[in-house]
Amino acid sequence: MAYSSCTLLLIILCFHAIEAQPLHTAKLLINASNKLGKQIPETFMGVFFEEINHAGAGGLWAELVSNRGFEAGGKNVPSNIGPWTIIGDESSIHVSTDQTSCFEHNKIALKMEVNCDSSNSCPLDGIGISNPGFWGMNIEEGKKYKVVFYVRSTSRIDLKVSFVGSNDGVKLASTNIKGNDVNASTWRRVEHVFEAYATNHNSSLQITTNEKGVVWLDQVSAMPLDTYKGHGFRNDLFEMVAALKPRIFRFPGGCYVEGKWLRNAFRWKETIGAWENRPGHFGDVWGYWTDDGFGFFEGLQLAEDLNALPIWVFNNGFSIYEQVNISAISPFVQEVLDGIEFARGSPTSKWGSIRASMGHPKPFDLRYVAVGNEECDTQQNKFIYEGNYPKFYDAIKRAYPDIQIITNCDASKEPLNHPADLYDYHQYPKSSNYMFNLAQVFDHASRIGPKAFVSEYAMTGKESGRGNLLAAVAEAGFLIGLEKNSDLVEMVSYAPLFVNNNDQKWNPDAIVFNSHQVYGTPSYWVLSLFKESSGATFLNSTLQTNSPTLAASAISWKDSINGKSILRIKVANMESQTVNIVIFIEGLESSVHLSWPRKTVLTSSNPMDENSFSNPNMVVPRESILDYAGKIMNFQIDPLSVTLFDMTMY
Ligand code: AHR
Repeated sequence: MAYSSCTLLLIILCFHAIEAQPLHTAKLLINASNKLGKQIPETFMGVFFEEINHAGAGGLWAELVSNRGFEAGGKNVPSNIGPWTIIGDESSIHVSTDQTSCFEHNKIALKMEVNCDSSNSCPLDGIGISNPGFWGMNIEEGKKYKVVFYVRSTSRIDLKVSFVGSNDGVKLASTNIKGNDVNASTWRRVEHVFEAYATNHNSSLQITTNEKGVVWLDQVSAMPLDTYKGHGFRNDLFEMVAALKPRIFRFPGGCYVEGKWLRNAFRWKETIGAWENRPGHFGDVWGYWTDDGFGFFEGLQLAEDLNALPIWVFNNGFSIYEQVNISAISPFVQEVLDGIEFARGSPTSKWGSIRASMGHPKPFDLRYVAVGNEECDTQQNKFIYEGNYPKFYDAIKRAYPDIQIITNCDASKEPLNHPADLYDYHQYPKSSNYMFNLAQVFDHASRIGPKAFVSEYAMTGKESGRGNLLAAVAEAGFLIGLEKNSDLVEMVSYAPLFVNNNDQKWNPDAIVFNSHQVYGTPSYWVLSLFKESSGATFLNSTLQTNSPTLAASAISWKDSINGKSILRIKVANMESQTVNIVIFIEGLESSVHLSWPRKTVLTSSNPMDENSFSNPNMVVPRESILDYAGKIMNFQIDPLSVTLFDMTMY
């Protein structure tokens, strides 16, 4: 029995009734001969990174200061400086904003009028401003942090810069910044590397003074020195993604690319070059400001660091509430051509030279672009989308014939009326049964025409909790179906990838983090069970079962380290009972033996079980060694589980 029509309560009751039910037996017939198998595309398993849930700002991008240029309140003054707060009372300090920044694209600066000094009522530690980062900065003993800011003043610069525990006020690192000039009225850059002498995961950055006068501050940044390759990516979050061995990296959205309104769309040109000069923008779909430290360049860099091919989803003149029609689309087309030149043009080209000046003279390996995201979904939008699409397609193919272009019109049911190399396909079912059975969605889809890119999928809704075992097993069933259809499905990515636990805009997600902790949801662990599928051989296999919620597949690949061939059998069992499976393997050359059998199981005692910061390993794959591998094997598959059997063929 499967779960789809059960209420949540019934799901749990079904699960606990396991023992009473008779064993169901299934047979899996595998032909291990490569000749009968087919190659799964090298690009098969990927990731989709969207600036949602603070995935980048306050997440993978390690910048600790939030609203570093004081621009989040808008271009006009007076403005809102949140989440900065003021240290000191109204009689001693008056804080406002003005438009006197030395940075052309972000004119807002913070003005601090100080009415006290050390001999006259200023508190010992001074008065000033404090930034809590993204729900607390993670400052760790012995680690180094580079703080940069810009300052000018009507008097001598005399500032104290400190990292302080937000909950206890204990200083973790501190320095005094003193200028020699009596009057420091022109902007100057200050840089200091701190080494923390204590740890607090919930810290703030404070800039204070005891000097009477007016001080202006702008572009305040605090970066840990220890980031992935010094590229600015938080190590623990980077490692979680890298462990999935993604072959493609879709970015930067999602609806984030579109914005609710075009004025809030992701504009790649505003996110490149020196960080101080990036204006930042309000991502109105997910409802938060980003300083755009993680911009277009950083997305391309991250893909390269992950050894994945970038897939740039560009804005095609659509926001959720506005569409640019064909007569006005040409500037958007030019913006895309410029973006491709930025990514892969020569370092002497106009846009390629900016990339080179940012430290990457070598072109990025951009081979795929997607014309927008989810705009071909309603009749009215489809009409405009299909009208504008050829403008992008023709211009890109003319300039870059090798670039693969992705449409977001679904070609799984009916042929497209426009050319494309791939079509984008998204699914967020609310029922586990529906998710599991989507495995068949491409079984009868046309093989003539573009390939499919399942760039967003995940189970959502109540049944999936905050990312539980049930959702993960249903998704594993779906992925087995995609592997089977990988002659058509060229790429797959789960969505969303990340969530900062303090600001969840979308649920569930694959990787959950806060300032200093991270864990994978069961869906993340399912992805890890499919990481060897890219480029592997999908072996011919048949599952004989009368269960609609049991799925199995077999792949083989050569281990890159020892060169030995591995056979991997995957079984997703969404049944509430143990299943007996008999596996028959044929097609092995007589000299080949199966050895070193290992079993990996993802399961738990309750379908609703989830991981958490306090119990990150509640639902994770557990490996054991089997005592036998051979051409006929009999195994018991746990209720609600994903099970791998790995064997070396030699
Ligand atoms: O993954 C979350 C959102 O779901 C994406 O931004 C959008 O493409 C989809 O609707």
